[in-house]
Amino acid sequence: MTNVTANCESIHHSLHSSANIVWQETDITREIRSQQKGQQPLTLWFTGLSGSGKSTLANEVEKRLLFNGNHTMLLDGDNIRLGLNKNLGFEESDRVENIRRVAEAAKLMNDAGLITLASFISPYEKDRQNARDIIGKEYIEIYVSTPLAECERRDVKGLYKKARRGEIPNFTGISSLYEVPKNPEIEIDTSQYSLDDATNYVMKKIAQYLKRDYK
Ligand code: ADX
Repeated sequence: MTNVTANCESIHHSLHSSANIVWQETDITREIRSQQKGQQPLTLWFTGLSGSGKSTLANEVEKRLLFNGNHTMLLDGDNIRLGLNKNLGFEESDRVENIRRVAEAAKLMNDAGLITLASFISPYEKDRQNARDIIGKEYIEIYVSTPLAECERRDVKGLYKKARRGEIPNFTGISSLYEVPKNPEIEIDTSQYSLDDATNYVMKKIAQYLKRDYK
């Protein structure tokens, strides 16, 4: 009417995709699935620098759990980034989404009654907190605190060398931040132990959580 352009149409469709979604109850619950497996579902969340030993340790812990009769699944950063998260890079927003998706996947696996081991740098405190919020009391944080100098000395994948040459942008510990966990349930510096001793240490520490009542 005034010839002044205005943007005032009303929007009838919902802005959020979840606005018209209602949780569907199912008869077979997490409790029933875990009871069938005879175990308390957990998510063992390994965080630490690249080369700190997260994946090696998670791999050993999974073997022990399996040997003890537990049902497990291991989610590993590099592997997930080759599949589910292959559209994500290493900018902050991509790492946030990486951790969110992995936390949701870990939660689904806990719903399935499994003990999930997740091995991700997960450098930001607020994302780890978000993972804890998503997963709930099943979330057990294991901070693999191997110092940067030792990770760089190992340089298993040759990535630190590349990062120092400026060939990898946003490389954690070199050109991108790693926020040290404030209250991890477990902390282990793998430069101080043999792999076997480190595994024993983690197994001893998680025993109390494995024993929690799942019924
Ligand atoms: S996270 O920060 O988003 O949690 P994630 O654990 O999934 O990282 O992936 C880390 C792995 O990606 C490293 O072990 C390393 O092999 C590889 N990588 C490639 N580029 C980078 C980078 N810029 N920073 C850290 N890791 C990288």
